[in-house]
Amino acid sequence: MASNWTPDGWKAHEARHLPAYEDASELAGAEATLAKFPPLVFAGEARALKADLAEVAAGKGFLLQGGDCAESFAEHSADNIRDTFRVLLQMAVVMTFASKQPVVKVGRMAGQFAKPRSAPTETIGGKELPSYFGDIINGIEFEDSVRRNDPARMIQAYGQSAATLNLLRAFANGGYANLRQVHQWTLDHIGRSPWAKKFSETADRIGEALDFMAACGIDPMTVPQLQGTSFYTSHEALLLPYEQALTRRDSLTGDWYDCSAHMLWIGDRTRFEGSAHVEFLRGVGNPIGMKCGPSLEPDALLRMLDTLNPAREAGRMTLISRFGHDKVEDGLPKLVRAVQREGHTVVWSCDPMHGNVIKAESGYKTRPFERILAEVKGFFAVHRAEGTHAGGIHIEMTGQDVTECTGGAVAITDEALADRYHTHCDPRLNAAQSIELAFLLADMLNLEATERAKKAA
Ligand code: PEP
Ligand code: CO
Repeated sequence: MASNWTPDGWKAHEARHLPAYEDASELAGAEATLAKFPPLVFAGEARALKADLAEVAAGKGFLLQGGDCAESFAEHSADNIRDTFRVLLQMAVVMTFASKQPVVKVGRMAGQFAKPRSAPTETIGGKELPSYFGDIINGIEFEDSVRRNDPARMIQAYGQSAATLNLLRAFANGGYANLRQVHQWTLDHIGRSPWAKKFSETADRIGEALDFMAACGIDPMTVPQLQGTSFYTSHEALLLPYEQALTRRDSLTGDWYDCSAHMLWIGDRTRFEGSAHVEFLRGVGNPIGMKCGPSLEPDALLRMLDTLNPAREAGRMTLISRFGHDKVEDGLPKLVRAVQREGHTVVWSCDPMHGNVIKAESGYKTRPFERILAEVKGFFAVHRAEGTHAGGIHIEMTGQDVTECTGGAVAITDEALADRYHTHCDPRLNAAQSIELAFLLADMLNLEATERAKKAA
């Protein structure tokens, strides 16, 4: 357990990107309500994820983390949850089948609400209002009353997270994720993508493998690993009053866990030295992610690792690099070398989204698919050169047929962005683009395995 740590100790540290609430008693009331609510996840589940991530850190597996940039109250529906879950499953199947490595599935779901913003206010037509910080803090409509920071939104976000998690648990273990269903997952709009055929072929081959196993006497309906799947949740631990209220002591070990999600991460803007967010997360036992952008120096990274993982527990730390397609090959090697030199065990994951945002001529914020792929390729190239394992991917995606990122085989053009641009924050990959990325990842993982076998021979 972290020494000298209390759930509210972060309050004595510098907190950036936290909302100011007008009425302290309103905030205290919401915190007290949340503190009485049941935990959303259990410590034992967070430990199971940590064990899975320890395998990934050891080079035996791959982390797939994805979901909305920001979940919203308005778009909360069973269909949306199912579609995102389904695309993540499809991606995992493609990667597992091709690479023969387990894929650890973690949703940016059931709690991914709060957003750090570059400007505290937004001005439209001469009128200035607070920026939108995510539905857990204020609303997106440009009106005084909606943009007010409202602590009661934390209660609604908790309720939505509980409902989302309930459905995810049902999907993961109630039959939907059964590998026999793999063909059913191909329905709907992905059918129009050129990659749908390739997915369908993979599904055929999985079906054949299952038939073969059944003929050998292994009934896929009764093997737990084929019947269901493990699916975990995660979000950026940004809104500390919310995270603190859901932090509980595990009755089994006596350790503290943030029970709002299995995994929490620290954003690129809150990972500085002396940060309240770092102080908070160092004391909870969950697996922790940290975004690593171009401004992170190797020494600062090593100090963070010592603070967040003094016991050097494998599976505790996932380093999520987000440099940009043209910076990753310059910026990442020095971090990888420092971590190797000091003997830390981490999962290296690639966020090819947050360093690749551009403003399209149409005015929309977008991410060209080619740049996303280029960052992924650069990430794998760095790890191949350094002899380390490219261990994961962190993406903003949705199961919906949105038009938010340009390019891909479906070739979304700048002009088409306006058609179905629904995100509450950053542009997401749509279902077809996500599957396309999964096939590229499968190729990259195979290349890594071939190189490794060559070196071992
Ligand atoms: C995010 O993941 O939504 C995010 C804000 O990323 P970053 O902290 O890397 O900018
Ligand atoms: Co984002």
